[in-house]
Amino acid sequence: MSARMTLHVTETETAWLGGLLEAWEAVGGDALARRGAFHVGLCGGSTPAVFYKALARSKWPWSATQLYIGDERCVPPNHRDSNYRMIYEAFYPVKPVLHRWKTELGDYARAATDYEHLIKRETGDPPRFDLLLLGIGDDGHTASLFPGSPALNEETRSIVLTEIPRLKSKRLTITLPVIRRARVVWFLSRGAKKWPWVEKMAAGQGADFPAGRATCDAAPPIIHHCRL
Ligand code: 6PG
Repeated sequence: MSARMTLHVTETETAWLGGLLEAWEAVGGDALARRGAFHVGLCGGSTPAVFYKALARSKWPWSATQLYIGDERCVPPNHRDSNYRMIYEAFYPVKPVLHRWKTELGDYARAATDYEHLIKRETGDPPRFDLLLLGIGDDGHTASLFPGSPALNEETRSIVLTEIPRLKSKRLTITLPVIRRARVVWFLSRGAKKWPWVEKMAAGQGADFPAGRATCDAAPPIIHHCRL
C-alpha cells in the first residue's frame, strides 16, 4: 500500500484550469502572507504548458515568486526537448525568476551539484518548496524518476543525475525526499492514458510505480485530473 492521494476530476480544460488557478491563488497567497515568498517547483512534459500560459496571463505578484525546474533533460536550454525552454516560452512575456540547471556546460554532474546548492540556498536545507507540481508519465514515472531507477532509492541527495536506459538518455531530477518535504504537492494529469495510474494513486495502491511512491508529509498530494 502507499498513501492515498486526493483526487479532483474535471471534464473540460476550462474547468481544470479554473480549479488550478483558484488553488494557486490559495496556496500562493498563504505562502506570501506567512513568509513573504512563494517557491514553486515546476514539472515538464506537455501537460502543464497550458496552465503555465494561463498563469502568465493572470494577475500575480511574480516579483515575490521563485520558480524552479523540477527535472530536466540533459540538453542545452534552447533545445526543443528542454523543460526550461517549454516553461520559459509558456511564461513569456512575464519573466518570473526561473531557476534551472546549467546544462549548456555539458558537465551534468556539476550541474546537479550546483542546482542542489541553489535550491538549498533559496528554499532551505533540506530544500522545501511551497508548491511542487509533478506529472505522471505513461509508464508511471514522475519528475525524472523512472521505474526501476536507482534514483528512487536516493534518501540523502535532493538532486541527482540519472540514466534512463529505455530513453537512452540522461536526466536531472529532484528526488523523493524533496517531494516528501514540500508543503503542497500537485499532480497535473490529463486524458485516458493516465487514468489507470491516477486511479491507483487515489486508492493508495501506487507503491509499485514512481508517481505512486510520491508522498508528502504535510498533506496528501492532490491529483488534478482532466478527463479531456
Ligand atoms: C519530463 C517531465 C515528466 C512529465 C511526464 C508527463 O521531463 O518529461 O517532467 O515527469 O511530467 O512525463 O509528461 P506529459 O505531461 O507530456 O504527459
